Amino acid sequence: MNFADSEVVNSILMEKGMVPVHSAEEADVIFVNTCSIRENAETRVWNRLKEFRSLKKEKQQLTVGVLGCMAERIKEKIIDQEQLVDIVVGPDAYRDIPNLLKEVEDGRKAVNVLLSLEETYADITPVRTSGNGVTAFVSIMRGCDNMCAFCVVPFTRGRERSRPMSSILSEIEQLREEGYKEVTLLGQNVNSYKYEEIDFTTLMDEASKRNPEIRFRFSSPHPKDFPEPLLHLIAERPNLCNYIHIPAQAGSDTMLERMRRPYTRENYLKLIDRMREIIPDVSLSTDIIAGFCDETEEEHEATMSLMKIVRYDLAYMFAYSERERTLAHRKYEDNVPEDVKKRRLSEIIQQQMSIQEKTNEKEIGRRHLMLVEGTSKRSDEQLSGRTDTNKMVIIDRKDYAKGDYVEVEITDSTSATLQARPIRKSSIKEFSQREQEAVVPG
Ligand code: 5AD
Ligand code: SF4
Repeated sequence: MNFADSEVVNSILMEKGMVPVHSAEEADVIFVNTCSIRENAETRVWNRLKEFRSLKKEKQQLTVGVLGCMAERIKEKIIDQEQLVDIVVGPDAYRDIPNLLKEVEDGRKAVNVLLSLEETYADITPVRTSGNGVTAFVSIMRGCDNMCAFCVVPFTRGRERSRPMSSILSEIEQLREEGYKEVTLLGQNVNSYKYEEIDFTTLMDEASKRNPEIRFRFSSPHPKDFPEPLLHLIAERPNLCNYIHIPAQAGSDTMLERMRRPYTRENYLKLIDRMREIIPDVSLSTDIIAGFCDETEEEHEATMSLMKIVRYDLAYMFAYSERERTLAHRKYEDNVPEDVKKRRLSEIIQQQMSIQEKTNEKEIGRRHLMLVEGTSKRSDEQLSGRTDTNKMVIIDRKDYAKGDYVEVEITDSTSATLQARPIRKSSIKEFSQREQEAVVPG
């Protein structure tokens, strides 16, 4: 989400004649786009700002700004105490940045952390300066109304609002013209996307129909109201990826209730079963929090067992980090000792790694359509990319290039990556036809 927001800010700044540079040393203005989701995200921002302090000492006219979720929470602290920052801008105030920069030129500190009920930056075309030129994020909504007990997002990003479908579709069209091959539609809870009569399934339908050679992903849906028609659409449409990120957070009803996640373990597992019935080879990932308030050993075991039953292809796993203003902060105590949190998290991670290792092993011999995203980190002679099911794949470079769809056969695996033999360049349409022919008997 922040990645996408930074691209909106790029656009606003470049409109005013500013140009991006390659290093902090070359810059006249530095913005740090911040995240408040967990304590360690904020710690990293503070460290980054301290690094810039020495640059500020060398270069008097250097302006440093803080954007995003941390803005509201720490505006006073950031400006008064630390002398690190000249500008503070919340997630709904990016249009005001040029004015705020002027205030700084006049020798003042500048702050705008107002949240909005309407702002979606719909008319601003993001400028993608740091991506790979192949995969892009497109923001379809902002804010969140869910109020999960642990989560600060509703407070930092405000109320939920959706961006008009027409502006989303025209951004995608422009990406296609620029040669992008994969789009991830982003929102805090995409199933509640609603603009006039358009719901999320309709949006996915339109986007994928109009751009058959772009592959689409989305993040994140909420398990409480996942629309079943979307599952059928994913099953039918070759360019809707067979991959769903479906955050569970925890595996017991008691914990889900404390977390204010309005679904039960049983409902969640039923949803997973439906996903697998309707999209047989669907790949699944999740978010899990270990050590939330009052977590018992039984509740932890229930989370472990849920993960074992579902056998996720990928999981993002976190230790609970208390955030001010959240329901949990006001109502509960962050009372699971740090060592217990760490131990539970490491059990969760270990189990998940061993599941991934086995699941990925089963991929050996299978064929996938890989989208090449660039040169592999390990070797210039190899390319990396992902399957439709969102698994990282490495192939020998040969004559293939960034942006190619390549049919590959998986030859080796680890818990995190697949190695593959490239077979031929393809298109989404050709690959899906070959796959269909392969399953027709005779
Ligand atoms: N502590 C730990 N993890 C959190 N998340 C959100 N808030 C917290 C918190 N206070 C996790 C959730 C969410 C993901 C984006 O971050 O799992 O789905
Ligand atoms: Fe946070 Fe819950 Fe909203 Fe996700 S759905 S952003 S976890 S409040």
